Amino acid sequence: MALAHERVFGQRSGARGEPAPYKAYIETYGCQMNFADSELVARILHSIGYGFTSQPEEADLVLLNTCAIREHAEEKIWQRLKYFHSLKRRRPHLVVGVLGCMAERLRQKLLAEAPVVDLIAGPDSYRHLPQLLRQVEGGHKAIHVLLSREETYADIAPLRVSPHKVNAYISIMRGCNNMCSFCIVPFTRGRERSRPWTTIVEEAKSLAEEGYKEIVLLGQNVDSYRDGAVDFAQLLARVAEAVPEVWIRFATSHPKDMRDEVLETIARYPNLTPYIHLPVQSGSDTVLARMNRGYTAQWYLQRIEAIRRYLPKAVISTDIIVGFCGETEEEFRETLALMEAVEFDAVYQFMYSERPGTLAARRYKDDVPPAEKKARLEQVIQLAQTLSLKRHRAQVGSVQEVLLERPARKNPADLAGRTFSGYPVVVRDAAEKYKLGTKIPVHVTSATPATLIGYVANDN
Ligand code: 5AD
Ligand code: SF4
Repeated sequence: MALAHERVFGQRSGARGEPAPYKAYIETYGCQMNFADSELVARILHSIGYGFTSQPEEADLVLLNTCAIREHAEEKIWQRLKYFHSLKRRRPHLVVGVLGCMAERLRQKLLAEAPVVDLIAGPDSYRHLPQLLRQVEGGHKAIHVLLSREETYADIAPLRVSPHKVNAYISIMRGCNNMCSFCIVPFTRGRERSRPWTTIVEEAKSLAEEGYKEIVLLGQNVDSYRDGAVDFAQLLARVAEAVPEVWIRFATSHPKDMRDEVLETIARYPNLTPYIHLPVQSGSDTVLARMNRGYTAQWYLQRIEAIRRYLPKAVISTDIIVGFCGETEEEFRETLALMEAVEFDAVYQFMYSERPGTLAARRYKDDVPPAEKKARLEQVIQLAQTLSLKRHRAQVGSVQEVLLERPARKNPADLAGRTFSGYPVVVRDAAEKYKLGTKIPVHVTSATPATLIGYVANDN
């Protein structure tokens, strides 16, 4: 998705010294953290005079903020680089940069195999972008991929470009100290570090003043957030108190670290939403051990029990990897069984993709044939849809508060949003009467595996 902004924010000295508006185009791939990072990058570029465009064809600087989590994510970038290569033939002054996790992981290969790339910056290097751009202007390739133990960009206010100003991300920590054997993130994003809680509360307050209605707190593993005496439960409480009118969500939790205090805190504050994304990855203890996840299926089920005890209306979603090294048919069936036991509201499923340098790549064989991975993925998708539909149907007939977030995709008369607990909702015939950002009671009248559907309650 592109970071789209048509407005030219500023002026920057042109090649011959006269002022000329330089336009940047930023394309973002991967997780929510990357989208949040692109907003930091946008602020940094803005501060040195760049404007922005949603058309790469009219940009002077193209930045790709990349993901390395699966091979497919990287393949897409190589394709895009081919396109920008052709663009550069027409616009020789165009500067092309690769940011993010793939830049960190593949800097050598990018330098060697993608001559179109002028600039390479890893996730902890964005503060250096102004110098790096000057280096490129001087005719050199610029590269900065050092990981940091301290960088949290706490003092840089993201430049948010969402056209609707309803939801905003705040990243509360960076990096990851868990060594899940399949995962490249600890290598591309480095050691875990938490951002000072006061800066998070300040950012939340200024977002509330700007009119944002929902804030998502982001971290690779939010349960291990810590700033002095303030842990994640306390951070949630402080943010909830600072912006009582704003709904607060967060991601991602880790089953081995998620504590009852967090659940108890969510239950205590009316603006902390009971939406929990709790990646399980597999339902088999032997696979979980090979994945180095630090819990068993039974432990996971107990965490689900705790969520339901504290938060009876919780919406629970998960990530599942199929076809991990050595996964037998029987081990895979245990994943399906766990899905049925939990009845997830939503599942994000992936085929295992070996990432060079990870523990799994060094230790195990990627031996489940691609066709088998695909067949297992299909089964997970099927079951996930059945379970979502069941959960969604149970909401039919209820009236729930919904935050209107954006126009609906299919019908321009409808708006799309989420219930407080996190269910996606299409609100019929709301576009004419209601503004985005409004919270309204919605009568849920039907459901699909993907969404609830309803009408504004008592709408005359
Ligand atoms: N292959 C497939 N899926 C992966 N994920 C992380 N690493 C890999 C990999 N090597 C998935 C996990 C994680 C989500 C963000 O991406 O399910 O929770
Ligand atoms: Fe990767 Fe595991 Fe860290 Fe998530 S918790 S980013 S899966 S190492």
